[in-house]
Amino acid sequence: MAAAAHNAVFMLFLISGVRLSVAAHTTVPPHFTVNLDLPEEERWNGVIAKYGDYIKQAAKEIINQVPVEAMPLVEMIAADIDKYLPSPYAGEMRGIAKSANMNLGDVVIVNIIYDVTAFCTSIGAQDTNGTIWHARNLDYRYRFTDMLRNVTISVDFQRRGQTVYSSVTYAAYIGILTGQKPHKFTVTVDERDRGAWWMNALMAILYSKAKPMSFLVRDVLESSENFDDAVDTLSNTLTDASEYFIVAGTKPGEGAIITKGRLAPLDIWKLNLTAGRWFEVETNYDHWVEPPAHDDRRHPAINAMEKLGQNQIDKMHLFNDVMSLHPVLNNRTVYTVVMSAANPDFIQSWVQHPDP
Ligand SMILES: *[C@@H]1O[C@H](CO)[C@@H](O)[C@H](O)[C@H]1NC(C)=O
Ligand SMILES: *[C@@H]1O[C@H](CO)[C@@H](O)[C@H](O)[C@H]1NC(C)=O
Ligand SMILES: *[C@@H]1O[C@H](CO)[C@@H](O)[C@H](O)[C@H]1NC(C)=O
Ligand SMILES: *[C@@H]1O[C@H](CO)[C@@H](O)[C@H](O)[C@H]1NC(C)=O
Repeated sequence: MAAAAHNAVFMLFLISGVRLSVAAHTTVPPHFTVNLDLPEEERWNGVIAKYGDYIKQAAKEIINQVPVEAMPLVEMIAADIDKYLPSPYAGEMRGIAKSANMNLGDVVIVNIIYDVTAFCTSIGAQDTNGTIWHARNLDYRYRFTDMLRNVTISVDFQRRGQTVYSSVTYAAYIGILTGQKPHKFTVTVDERDRGAWWMNALMAILYSKAKPMSFLVRDVLESSENFDDAVDTLSNTLTDASEYFIVAGTKPGEGAIITKGRLAPLDIWKLNLTAGRWFEVETNYDHWVEPPAHDDRRHPAINAMEKLGQNQIDKMHLFNDVMSLHPVLNNRTVYTVVMSAANPDFIQSWVQHPDP
């Protein structure tokens, strides 16, 4: 983990032909260890001790976004949580509710809403040495982006003192949207647009035993032993919503963007050096269709990667020259992470505070 608390990032971009310099600053997310050898109910106590007040405030704002008609479904899940959200999730959420003094239903809401609101950019790339890289910006679509910056943390999940997997997440959010299994693979999730997602997601959990996708990602980090296994499990498990999963491994060619329907993969798009595809970018649109003009982060990211070039890919170049460029970095960006599963110590995360 980097020790410096603040770094300055300066972006240059053009608006109406005027060259503007826009300042942003970054902070290092606080680091926590979650000990998987502890009972589920106790694992997050250290995080809650530090973030209890923020979590309650965040939950209040999040719950305001939830349609009234969804509330009875949330209550049904909370009332029989072990049936709908299996171990370790039910136990960990019970523990969080207890130590933060919150309703279990509110903890469930917090854990499901983030699931469906990750507006992001993820990039998988292979450098000229065959090293695989994975970079992501997590953008949040609602107004309380600032609050989420305050609860962003990095977590090592350990067993017998060894890190089994790591994540960058929000305090009280126990699923994983950005994760690394050392020496095996890295995974990120980007939201795929869907209609009445709240009701659909809750109905899928209640009636089809579908998995919240951030829980699936954590299961895969826990259980999958290699890139192919991770891609296969992420592709073929029933989930509560449609998503993009971006997976990067440790060997040449091990990079894939999965366009996941709820039941099955719609498309699995892999790096292919023979075809000249040394990197792939996913934002929030199917890769085979053009992104809408009002939200095109894909082409700026592609242009930045091409300008950088395959022989210059490394952590700080990805951070400075790709992930920190507008509009890949924008006022909804909460954090940036760069990782490389073969070099697990390279992982670095920055909470982004673009100046208004
Ligand atoms: C975030 O934290 C800062 C400093 O800790 C605080 O001043 C600010 O009000 C917080 N913002 C939100 C939205 O909670
Ligand atoms: C990679 O691209 C080449 C050239 O387009 C193609 O022939 C080959 O089948 C592709 N490989 C895979 C694994 O899709
Ligand atoms: C490739 O490896 C060489 C030697 O270890 C190193 O100097 C170079 O920076 C690496 N290139 C990339 C793109 O990582
Ligand atoms: C973010 O920027 C957009 C314009 O790019 C602006 O419309 C919006 O109000 C800004 N949001 C915040 C939270 O500053």
